[in-house]
Amino acid sequence: MEGDGPAKGEQMKTLSVLEQAAVGIRDGKVAFIGTMEEAASLQADKVIDAKGKLVTPGLVDPHTHLVFAGSREHEMALKQQGVPYLEILKRGGGILSTVQATREASEEELLEKAKFHLNRMISYGTTTVEAKSGYGLDEETELKQLRVVKRLQGEHPIDLVSTFLGAHAIPTEYKEEPDRFLANMIVLLDIIKKEELAEFVDIFCETGVFTVEQSRAFLQAAKAKGFDVKIHADEIDPLGGTELAVELEAKSGDHLVGASERGIQLLAQSNTIAVLLPGTSFYLGKEKYAKAREMIDAGAAVALSTDFNPGSSPTENLQLIMSIAALKLKMTPEEIWHAVTVNAAYAINRGEEAGRIAIGRKADIVIWDAPNYAYIPYHYGVNHVRTVLKAGNVVAERSGGDAVFVS
Ligand code: NIG
Ligand code: FE
Repeated sequence: MEGDGPAKGEQMKTLSVLEQAAVGIRDGKVAFIGTMEEAASLQADKVIDAKGKLVTPGLVDPHTHLVFAGSREHEMALKQQGVPYLEILKRGGGILSTVQATREASEEELLEKAKFHLNRMISYGTTTVEAKSGYGLDEETELKQLRVVKRLQGEHPIDLVSTFLGAHAIPTEYKEEPDRFLANMIVLLDIIKKEELAEFVDIFCETGVFTVEQSRAFLQAAKAKGFDVKIHADEIDPLGGTELAVELEAKSGDHLVGASERGIQLLAQSNTIAVLLPGTSFYLGKEKYAKAREMIDAGAAVALSTDFNPGSSPTENLQLIMSIAALKLKMTPEEIWHAVTVNAAYAINRGEEAGRIAIGRKADIVIWDAPNYAYIPYHYGVNHVRTVLKAGNVVAERSGGDAVFVS
Protein backbone atom coordinates (compact mmCIF):
# COMPACT_ATOMS: atom_id res chain seq x y z
CA MET A 1 0.00 0.00 0.00
CA GLU A 2 2.15 2.83 -1.30
CA GLY A 3 1.54 6.54 -1.21
CA ASP A 4 0.23 8.97 1.38
CA GLY A 5 -3.20 9.31 2.89
CA PRO A 6 -6.15 7.01 2.33
CA ALA A 7 -6.48 5.35 -1.07
CA LYS A 8 -9.41 6.94 -2.89
CA GLY A 9 -11.22 5.53 -5.93
CA GLU A 10 -8.64 4.72 -8.62
CA GLN A 11 -5.85 4.58 -6.04
CA MET A 12 -7.50 1.50 -4.55
CA LYS A 13 -6.95 -0.41 -7.78
CA THR A 14 -3.20 -0.94 -7.68
CA LEU A 15 -0.97 -2.57 -5.11
CA SER A 16 2.78 -2.49 -5.03
CA VAL A 17 3.98 -6.05 -4.71
CA LEU A 18 7.59 -7.01 -4.09
CA GLU A 19 8.67 -10.51 -5.11
CA GLN A 20 11.52 -12.36 -3.38
CA ALA A 21 11.39 -9.69 -0.73
CA ALA A 22 12.67 -9.27 2.82
CA VAL A 23 11.50 -7.07 5.67
CA GLY A 24 13.91 -6.06 8.42
CA ILE A 25 12.70 -5.14 11.88
CA ARG A 26 14.59 -3.25 14.56
CA ASP A 27 13.18 -2.16 17.95
CA GLY A 28 9.68 -3.16 16.91
CA LYS A 29 9.76 -0.99 13.81
CA VAL A 30 10.26 -1.68 10.12
CA ALA A 31 13.91 -0.83 9.39
CA PHE A 32 14.44 -2.40 5.97
CA ILE A 33 12.38 -3.32 2.91
CA GLY A 34 14.09 -4.77 -0.13
CA THR A 35 14.96 -7.86 -2.06
CA MET A 36 16.49 -11.00 -0.57
CA GLU A 37 19.65 -10.11 -2.43
CA GLU A 38 19.84 -6.69 -0.83
CA ALA A 39 19.09 -8.24 2.56
CA ALA A 40 21.93 -10.75 2.28
CA SER A 41 24.48 -8.44 3.87
CA LEU A 42 22.28 -7.55 6.87
CA GLN A 43 23.06 -8.92 10.32
CA ALA A 44 20.02 -10.48 11.96
CA ASP A 45 19.52 -12.09 15.38
CA LYS A 46 16.51 -13.95 14.17
CA VAL A 47 15.23 -14.89 10.74
CA ILE A 48 11.67 -15.95 9.96
CA ASP A 49 11.43 -17.89 6.73
CA ALA A 50 8.40 -16.80 4.70
CA LYS A 51 9.39 -18.61 1.53
CA GLY A 52 6.46 -19.16 -0.79
CA LYS A 53 4.17 -17.13 1.42
CA LEU A 54 2.41 -13.80 1.36
CA VAL A 55 3.49 -11.00 3.71
CA THR A 56 1.16 -8.04 4.36
CA PRO A 57 0.50 -5.33 6.92
CA GLY A 58 -1.54 -6.46 9.93
CA LEU A 59 -5.26 -6.10 9.28
CA VAL A 60 -7.14 -3.15 10.77
CA ASP A 61 -10.75 -3.66 11.91
CA PRO A 62 -12.26 -0.16 12.14
CA HIS A 63 -15.74 -0.92 13.51
CA THR A 64 -16.44 -3.41 16.29
CA HIS A 65 -18.74 -3.66 19.28
CA LEU A 66 -16.07 -5.53 21.22
CA VAL A 67 -17.23 -5.20 24.82
CA PHE A 68 -20.51 -6.89 25.73
CA ALA A 69 -21.88 -9.72 27.84
CA GLY A 70 -23.86 -12.74 26.73
CA SER A 71 -24.85 -13.79 23.23
CA ARG A 72 -28.01 -13.88 21.14
CA GLU A 73 -28.21 -17.26 19.42
CA HIS A 74 -31.91 -17.43 20.41
CA GLU A 75 -32.61 -14.64 17.89
CA MET A 76 -31.61 -16.88 15.02
CA ALA A 77 -34.92 -18.77 15.21
CA LEU A 78 -36.85 -15.49 15.26
CA LYS A 79 -34.98 -14.31 12.18
CA GLN A 80 -35.71 -17.63 10.45
CA GLN A 81 -39.40 -17.05 11.17
CA GLY A 82 -39.08 -13.74 9.37
CA VAL A 83 -39.05 -11.34 12.33
CA PRO A 84 -36.96 -8.35 11.17
CA TYR A 85 -33.93 -7.09 13.11
CA LEU A 86 -35.59 -3.77 13.97
CA GLU A 87 -38.77 -5.57 15.09
CA ILE A 88 -36.76 -7.70 17.55
CA LEU A 89 -35.31 -4.45 18.92
CA LYS A 90 -38.76 -2.87 19.13
CA ARG A 91 -39.93 -5.80 21.26
CA GLY A 92 -37.15 -5.08 23.75
CA GLY A 93 -34.80 -7.75 22.41
CA GLY A 94 -31.80 -7.30 20.14
CA ILE A 95 -29.43 -4.58 21.34
CA LEU A 96 -31.60 -4.10 24.45
CA SER A 97 -31.16 -7.72 25.55
CA THR A 98 -27.38 -7.33 25.32
CA VAL A 99 -27.74 -4.08 27.31
CA GLN A 100 -29.44 -6.04 30.08
CA ALA A 101 -26.66 -8.64 30.18
CA THR A 102 -23.91 -6.01 29.99
CA ARG A 103 -25.38 -3.98 32.86
CA GLU A 104 -25.37 -7.13 35.00
CA ALA A 105 -21.78 -8.11 34.19
CA SER A 106 -18.80 -6.98 36.22
CA GLU A 107 -15.92 -5.03 34.70
CA GLU A 108 -13.69 -8.10 35.17
CA GLU A 109 -16.12 -10.36 33.35
CA LEU A 110 -16.36 -7.95 30.44
CA LEU A 111 -12.59 -7.63 30.32
CA GLU A 112 -12.03 -11.38 30.18
CA LYS A 113 -14.66 -11.88 27.49
CA ALA A 114 -13.31 -9.01 25.37
CA LYS A 115 -9.82 -10.48 25.68
CA PHE A 116 -11.12 -13.81 24.41
CA HIS A 117 -12.52 -12.08 21.30
CA LEU A 118 -9.33 -10.04 20.81
CA ASN A 119 -7.27 -13.23 20.94
CA ARG A 120 -9.40 -14.66 18.19
CA MET A 121 -9.04 -11.47 16.15
CA ILE A 122 -5.26 -11.49 16.40
CA SER A 123 -5.19 -15.16 15.44
CA TYR A 124 -7.01 -14.13 12.25
CA GLY A 125 -4.42 -11.46 11.46
CA THR A 126 -6.01 -8.31 12.93
CA THR A 127 -3.55 -6.08 14.79
CA THR A 128 -5.52 -2.81 15.27
CA VAL A 129 -9.17 -2.66 16.34
CA GLU A 130 -11.74 0.05 16.97
CA ALA A 131 -14.05 -0.77 19.91
CA LYS A 132 -17.39 0.86 20.68
CA SER A 133 -19.38 1.09 23.88
CA GLY A 134 -23.17 1.19 23.51
CA TYR A 135 -24.46 -1.75 25.53
CA GLY A 136 -24.85 0.25 28.71
CA LEU A 137 -27.05 3.19 27.73
CA ASP A 138 -26.58 4.45 31.26
CA GLU A 139 -23.71 6.34 32.81
CA GLU A 140 -22.35 3.52 34.92
CA THR A 141 -22.33 0.80 32.26
CA GLU A 142 -21.12 2.99 29.40
CA LEU A 143 -18.15 4.08 31.52
CA LYS A 144 -17.57 0.46 32.56
CA GLN A 145 -17.34 -0.59 28.90
CA LEU A 146 -14.99 2.28 28.03
CA ARG A 147 -12.75 1.50 31.01
CA VAL A 148 -12.48 -2.09 29.82
CA VAL A 149 -11.17 -0.84 26.48
CA LYS A 150 -8.69 1.43 28.23
CA ARG A 151 -7.41 -1.43 30.39
CA LEU A 152 -7.12 -3.71 27.37
CA GLN A 153 -4.84 -1.16 25.74
CA GLY A 154 -2.27 -2.04 28.36
CA GLU A 155 -3.04 -5.72 28.63
CA HIS A 156 -3.40 -6.93 25.04
CA PRO A 157 -1.00 -6.64 22.09
CA ILE A 158 -3.77 -5.38 19.77
CA ASP A 159 -3.87 -1.59 19.50
CA LEU A 160 -7.34 -0.35 20.39
CA VAL A 161 -9.16 2.82 19.41
CA SER A 162 -12.10 3.70 21.62
CA THR A 163 -15.50 5.04 20.50
CA PHE A 164 -18.38 6.18 22.70
CA LEU A 165 -21.66 4.82 21.28
CA GLY A 166 -23.95 5.79 24.15
CA ALA A 167 -26.53 6.64 21.47
CA HIS A 168 -26.84 3.04 20.24
CA ALA A 169 -30.52 2.54 21.14
CA ILE A 170 -33.19 4.18 23.26
CA PRO A 171 -33.17 2.38 26.61
CA THR A 172 -36.54 1.12 27.86
CA GLU A 173 -36.59 3.64 30.73
CA TYR A 174 -36.40 6.55 28.22
CA LYS A 175 -38.67 5.01 25.60
CA GLU A 176 -40.89 8.10 25.40
CA GLU A 177 -38.10 10.64 25.90
CA PRO A 178 -35.26 10.03 23.45
CA ASP A 179 -34.19 13.68 23.55
CA ARG A 180 -33.81 13.63 27.30
CA PHE A 181 -31.77 10.42 26.96
CA LEU A 182 -29.47 12.04 24.38
CA ALA A 183 -29.06 15.09 26.63
CA ASN A 184 -27.83 12.76 29.39
CA MET A 185 -25.38 11.12 27.03
CA ILE A 186 -24.04 14.55 26.08
CA VAL A 187 -23.42 15.32 29.76
CA LEU A 188 -21.40 12.08 29.95
CA LEU A 189 -19.05 13.36 27.26
CA ASP A 190 -17.31 15.64 29.75
CA ILE A 191 -16.28 12.72 31.98
CA ILE A 192 -15.24 10.71 28.94
CA LYS A 193 -13.05 13.57 27.73
CA LYS A 194 -11.53 14.20 31.13
CA GLU A 195 -10.66 10.55 31.69
CA GLU A 196 -9.57 10.11 28.05
CA LEU A 197 -11.93 7.18 27.62
CA ALA A 198 -12.81 7.69 23.95
CA GLU A 199 -11.50 9.40 20.86
CA PHE A 200 -14.65 9.07 18.75
CA VAL A 201 -18.39 9.50 19.28
CA ASP A 202 -20.86 7.48 17.20
CA ILE A 203 -24.67 7.22 16.93
CA PHE A 204 -27.12 4.70 15.43
CA CYS A 205 -29.12 6.81 12.94
CA GLU A 206 -31.97 4.46 12.00
CA THR A 207 -35.75 4.05 11.87
CA GLY A 208 -37.02 3.55 15.41
CA VAL A 209 -33.67 4.55 16.89
CA PHE A 210 -32.34 8.10 16.29
CA THR A 211 -33.47 10.43 13.52
CA VAL A 212 -31.18 12.42 11.23
CA GLU A 213 -32.02 15.59 13.21
CA GLN A 214 -31.24 13.97 16.55
CA SER A 215 -28.03 12.49 15.14
CA ARG A 216 -26.93 15.86 13.76
CA ALA A 217 -27.50 17.67 17.07
CA PHE A 218 -25.84 14.90 19.10
CA LEU A 219 -22.73 14.68 16.92
CA GLN A 220 -22.43 18.47 16.70
CA ALA A 221 -22.38 18.57 20.50
CA ALA A 222 -19.68 15.86 20.50
CA LYS A 223 -17.60 17.79 17.97
CA ALA A 224 -17.90 20.96 20.04
CA LYS A 225 -16.42 18.99 22.94
CA GLY A 226 -13.43 17.97 20.86
CA PHE A 227 -14.37 14.46 19.68
CA ASP A 228 -14.10 13.09 16.16
CA VAL A 229 -17.33 11.54 14.96
CA LYS A 230 -18.65 8.48 13.13
CA ILE A 231 -22.19 7.44 12.18
CA HIS A 232 -24.04 4.15 11.81
CA ALA A 233 -25.73 5.49 8.68
CA ASP A 234 -28.28 4.06 6.24
CA GLU A 235 -27.73 0.50 7.51
CA ILE A 236 -31.28 -0.78 7.18
CA ASP A 237 -33.44 2.12 6.00
CA PRO A 238 -32.11 4.90 3.73
CA LEU A 239 -32.60 7.99 5.88
CA GLY A 240 -29.88 10.28 4.57
CA GLY A 241 -27.21 9.34 7.10
CA THR A 242 -24.57 9.29 4.37
CA GLU A 243 -25.21 12.96 3.56
CA LEU A 244 -25.13 13.73 7.26
CA ALA A 245 -21.74 12.03 7.68
CA VAL A 246 -20.30 14.24 4.94
CA GLU A 247 -22.01 17.36 6.26
CA LEU A 248 -20.48 16.80 9.71
CA GLU A 249 -17.06 15.93 8.25
CA ALA A 250 -17.24 12.61 10.08
CA LYS A 251 -14.06 10.51 9.90
CA SER A 252 -16.25 7.69 8.66
CA GLY A 253 -19.79 6.88 7.64
CA ASP A 254 -20.45 3.26 8.48
CA HIS A 255 -22.72 0.67 6.75
CA LEU A 256 -24.16 2.99 4.02
CA VAL A 257 -26.24 0.18 2.51
CA GLY A 258 -29.01 2.59 1.60
CA ALA A 259 -26.76 5.49 0.56
CA SER A 260 -28.41 7.64 -2.13
CA GLU A 261 -26.75 8.59 -5.42
CA ARG A 262 -26.25 12.08 -4.05
CA GLY A 263 -24.81 10.68 -0.81
CA ILE A 264 -22.28 8.66 -2.80
CA GLN A 265 -21.23 11.70 -4.87
CA LEU A 266 -20.83 13.81 -1.74
CA LEU A 267 -18.85 11.04 -0.08
CA ALA A 268 -16.48 10.80 -3.02
CA GLN A 269 -15.71 14.51 -2.80
CA SER A 270 -15.16 14.43 0.96
CA ASN A 271 -12.56 13.17 3.40
CA THR A 272 -15.10 10.88 5.06
CA ILE A 273 -14.23 7.20 4.71
CA ALA A 274 -16.96 4.74 3.77
CA VAL A 275 -16.66 1.87 6.24
CA LEU A 276 -18.64 -1.00 4.73
CA LEU A 277 -19.79 -3.96 6.81
CA PRO A 278 -21.11 -6.57 4.38
CA GLY A 279 -21.13 -9.22 7.11
CA THR A 280 -24.25 -7.47 8.41
CA SER A 281 -26.20 -7.70 5.14
CA PHE A 282 -25.08 -11.31 4.88
CA TYR A 283 -25.99 -12.24 8.44
CA LEU A 284 -29.34 -10.42 8.44
CA GLY A 285 -30.21 -12.18 5.18
CA LYS A 286 -30.60 -8.97 3.20
CA GLU A 287 -30.72 -8.78 -0.56
CA LYS A 288 -29.15 -5.37 -0.49
CA TYR A 289 -25.46 -4.72 0.02
CA ALA A 290 -23.63 -1.39 0.11
CA LYS A 291 -22.86 -0.05 -3.36
CA ALA A 292 -19.10 -0.40 -3.09
CA ARG A 293 -18.59 -0.34 -6.86
CA GLU A 294 -20.41 2.96 -7.28
CA MET A 295 -18.54 4.41 -4.31
CA ILE A 296 -15.10 3.44 -5.56
CA ASP A 297 -15.87 4.41 -9.15
CA ALA A 298 -17.08 7.80 -7.91
CA GLY A 299 -13.73 8.25 -6.11
CA ALA A 300 -14.54 7.45 -2.48
CA ALA A 301 -12.16 5.81 0.00
CA VAL A 302 -13.72 2.52 1.07
CA ALA A 303 -12.78 0.49 4.14
CA LEU A 304 -14.12 -2.88 5.33
CA SER A 305 -14.85 -4.11 8.82
CA THR A 306 -16.39 -7.06 10.66
CA ASP A 307 -18.85 -4.98 12.74
CA PHE A 308 -18.17 -7.71 15.30
CA ASN A 309 -21.22 -7.69 17.62
CA PRO A 310 -23.63 -10.22 19.15
CA GLY A 311 -26.61 -9.33 16.95
CA SER A 312 -26.03 -8.41 13.34
CA SER A 313 -22.52 -9.81 12.79
CA PRO A 314 -21.11 -12.27 15.33
CA THR A 315 -17.70 -12.87 13.78
CA GLU A 316 -14.14 -11.76 14.56
CA ASN A 317 -12.94 -13.01 11.17
CA LEU A 318 -11.99 -10.15 8.85
CA GLN A 319 -10.79 -12.66 6.23
CA LEU A 320 -14.38 -13.86 5.87
CA ILE A 321 -15.50 -10.26 5.34
CA MET A 322 -12.88 -9.98 2.58
CA SER A 323 -14.53 -12.92 0.83
CA ILE A 324 -18.02 -11.47 1.24
CA ALA A 325 -16.71 -8.16 -0.15
CA ALA A 326 -15.42 -9.99 -3.23
CA LEU A 327 -18.58 -12.01 -3.74
CA LYS A 328 -21.27 -9.51 -2.83
CA LEU A 329 -19.70 -6.04 -3.16
CA LYS A 330 -17.79 -7.07 -6.30
CA MET A 331 -14.63 -5.52 -4.95
CA THR A 332 -11.34 -6.59 -6.54
CA PRO A 333 -8.55 -8.13 -4.44
CA GLU A 334 -6.55 -4.88 -4.72
CA GLU A 335 -9.49 -2.82 -3.47
CA ILE A 336 -10.17 -5.28 -0.67
CA TRP A 337 -6.58 -5.13 0.61
CA HIS A 338 -6.61 -1.33 0.71
CA ALA A 339 -9.95 -1.52 2.52
CA VAL A 340 -8.69 -3.72 5.37
CA THR A 341 -5.35 -1.96 5.84
CA VAL A 342 -4.63 1.65 4.98
CA ASN A 343 -8.20 2.91 4.55
CA ALA A 344 -9.36 1.12 7.68
CA ALA A 345 -6.51 2.76 9.58
CA TYR A 346 -7.43 6.24 8.34
CA ALA A 347 -11.05 5.66 9.35
CA ILE A 348 -9.89 5.48 12.97
CA ASN A 349 -7.14 8.14 12.90
CA ARG A 350 -4.33 5.58 12.74
CA GLY A 351 -3.42 6.12 9.10
CA GLU A 352 0.04 7.34 9.96
CA GLU A 353 0.81 4.34 12.18
CA ALA A 354 -0.98 1.27 10.89
CA GLY A 355 -2.07 -0.28 7.60
CA ARG A 356 1.24 -0.07 5.71
CA ILE A 357 4.60 -1.78 5.79
CA ALA A 358 6.89 1.23 5.63
CA ILE A 359 10.24 2.22 7.11
CA GLY A 360 9.85 3.63 10.60
CA ARG A 361 6.36 2.29 11.14
CA LYS A 362 5.43 -0.24 13.77
CA ALA A 363 6.18 -3.74 12.49
CA ASP A 364 2.61 -5.06 12.45
CA ILE A 365 2.96 -7.81 9.89
CA VAL A 366 1.13 -10.98 8.89
CA ILE A 367 2.65 -13.96 7.10
CA TRP A 368 -0.02 -15.95 5.28
CA ASP A 369 -0.16 -19.49 3.96
CA ALA A 370 -1.07 -18.13 0.56
CA PRO A 371 0.79 -17.86 -2.72
CA ASN A 372 -0.52 -14.34 -3.49
CA TYR A 373 -2.88 -11.68 -2.15
CA ALA A 374 -5.86 -12.65 -4.33
CA TYR A 375 -5.84 -16.05 -2.64
CA ILE A 376 -7.16 -14.75 0.72
CA PRO A 377 -10.62 -13.56 -0.42
CA TYR A 378 -10.79 -16.47 -2.87
CA HIS A 379 -10.33 -19.41 -0.48
CA TYR A 380 -13.07 -18.54 1.96
CA GLY A 381 -14.18 -19.45 5.45
CA VAL A 382 -10.84 -20.63 6.84
CA ASN A 383 -7.94 -18.97 8.59
CA HIS A 384 -4.91 -18.44 6.33
CA VAL A 385 -2.66 -16.94 8.99
CA ARG A 386 0.73 -18.51 9.53
CA THR A 387 2.43 -15.91 11.79
CA VAL A 388 1.34 -12.56 13.23
CA LEU A 389 3.89 -9.99 14.36
CA LYS A 390 2.82 -7.07 16.50
CA ALA A 391 5.45 -4.36 16.89
CA GLY A 392 7.99 -6.93 15.77
CA ASN A 393 6.99 -9.63 18.27
CA VAL A 394 5.46 -12.92 17.22
CA VAL A 395 2.03 -12.86 18.89
CA ALA A 396 0.25 -15.64 17.02
CA GLU A 397 1.58 -18.61 15.14
CA ARG A 398 0.25 -21.78 13.69
CA SER A 399 2.67 -24.59 14.12
CA GLY A 400 2.78 -27.64 11.90
CA GLY A 401 0.27 -28.44 9.21
CA ASP A 402 -3.29 -27.29 8.96
CA ALA A 403 -4.92 -30.61 8.32
CA VAL A 404 -6.35 -32.82 11.00
CA PHE A 405 -5.50 -36.38 10.10
CA VAL A 406 -8.21 -38.87 10.84
CA SER A 407 -7.12 -42.50 10.92
O1 NIG B 1 -23.64 -2.19 13.60
N1 NIG B 1 -26.64 -1.24 14.13
C1 NIG B 1 -26.35 -1.10 15.29
N2 NIG B 1 -25.36 -1.74 15.88
C2 NIG B 1 -24.84 -2.96 15.46
C3 NIG B 1 -25.65 -4.10 15.91
C4 NIG B 1 -25.60 -4.27 17.37
C5 NIG B 1 -26.40 -5.42 17.89
O2 NIG B 1 -27.30 -5.95 17.22
O3 NIG B 1 -26.11 -5.78 19.05
C6 NIG B 1 -24.55 -2.92 13.98
O4 NIG B 1 -25.21 -3.62 13.19
FE1 FE C 1 -21.97 -1.46 14.27
